[in-house]
Amino acid sequence: MRPVRVGLLGIGTVGGGTFTVLRRNQEEIRRRAGRGIEIAMVADLNADLARQVVGDAAQIVSDARQVIANPDIDVVVELIGGYGVAKALVLEAIAAGKHVVTANKALLAVHGTEIFAAARAKGVIVAFEAAVAGGIPIIKSLREGLTANQIQWVAGIINGTTNFILSEMRDKGLDFDVVLKEAQRLGYAEADPTFDIEGVDAAHKATLLSAIAFGIPVQFDKAHVEGITKLSATDIKYAEQLGYRIKLLGIARRRDSGIELRTHPTLVPMRRLIANVEGAMNAVLVQGDAVGTTMYYGKGAGAEPTASAVVADLVDIARLIDAAPEARVPHLAFQPDSMSALPILPL
Ligand code: HSE
Repeated sequence: MRPVRVGLLGIGTVGGGTFTVLRRNQEEIRRRAGRGIEIAMVADLNADLARQVVGDAAQIVSDARQVIANPDIDVVVELIGGYGVAKALVLEAIAAGKHVVTANKALLAVHGTEIFAAARAKGVIVAFEAAVAGGIPIIKSLREGLTANQIQWVAGIINGTTNFILSEMRDKGLDFDVVLKEAQRLGYAEADPTFDIEGVDAAHKATLLSAIAFGIPVQFDKAHVEGITKLSATDIKYAEQLGYRIKLLGIARRRDSGIELRTHPTLVPMRRLIANVEGAMNAVLVQGDAVGTTMYYGKGAGAEPTASAVVADLVDIARLIDAAPEARVPHLAFQPDSMSALPILPL
């Protein structure tokens, strides 16, 4: 069977990780996917960097549109980030009949409705496991492992940068600004750290979780968003004395009248497992009516943890690529549940 041919848009940290994981585990991946998965093209403005990462294994171009125009490419992996160019390229890839894998939570939280609708109309898959909590397979868990449940709530530490900052402020009594610089140096923070520290990145991810958990459209514009910039080391110390840790949680909760969708610093009793998630780690709690409470823990960012999610999506696509569009689309291109008209509640 011919391999699935992939075009990477952007060969930064995650692109490099994806290349490495696919190469290192190629035999296992081929067995599990039922066919090979090969990166055939890479588009990056920095051709030298791309060459360093992929060597001669893939064609390197500077114009992403060359990847999209190539009829031999089956899947476009968008790792550019942001809303502008990335949105245009994802929509063009879909229009060209390519399946899309993206780690771009900002793009999907804000423009997901348009992107998923375009994908469904074209019969292609848009997969985004890497967009939420990096290496933790939380999209798959909600959609597949917990599919028997009515999800009651999802709550998580889904931004590693802010969890690192809060942990360091508590442990070392350091000021916010000092720790932010350290988080940036370690590569946890977004290019614009405002998205991390103001809670926007976590709210993007919570928005995607709410859509999957409750079958509602992606509605970032209705999310309540609060970050950690107003917290001081003293707040953290006092919370500790009262038996609490302060965690930035993304929360999506079903109420009778609608869905709460909020991201804000939260006092969590110290005895809770999630209160003890430290550093840049992520953790997501899901409460389902049948399963009860479940918890997922792992790395929410970084080259190979995020690549683990990207490659899992590629394996899904490889398994479904020859299926009829109607068989594959409900599985992977998100569609709001027409039975679930629950509104997002104002806070
Ligand atoms: N800036 C994000 C974080 C990266 O800190 O979690 C992963 O989405």
